[in-house]
Amino acid sequence: MYSEKVMDHFQNPRNVGEIENASGVGTVGNAKCGDIMRIYLDIDDESHIIRDCKFKTFGCGAAVATSSMATELVKGKTIEEAMQITNKAVMEALDGLPPVKVHCSLLAEEAIHAALWDYAEKHHIQIPGLEKPKSDISEHDEDEEY
Ligand code: FES
Repeated sequence: MYSEKVMDHFQNPRNVGEIENASGVGTVGNAKCGDIMRIYLDIDDESHIIRDCKFKTFGCGAAVATSSMATELVKGKTIEEAMQITNKAVMEALDGLPPVKVHCSLLAEEAIHAALWDYAEKHHIQIPGLEKPKSDISEHDEDEEY
């Protein structure tokens, strides 16, 4: 049911962890299943290139695999290029996901957008096409362990 790439990224997820003093942090929850994802970005202020990206998740295998792939895809990209990396692009890079797991892939895209929003707010810049994250729950769950 899962592609080899999904299994690989689930079993050996890339970029798990956190970034100290990250340029932007985004935390989102998936309304359908209650799973949670946090993304950390290290962004060069001059070039707007994403130097590093890490994630932590309390979520299912598909969420882990899509986040792992998403972090690989945004690393080295500019903010503008990262905005083009949709959940569809991440799923394609993983050779697809079963239909019931498509919603899991949204978590990574939303968490990246939430982290970019955090960066934009801190630096008083506007990122074209970026909207305020609906499900950024970082202000409500700081004490939660996951
Ligand atoms: Fe919750 Fe996949 S079932 S993210």
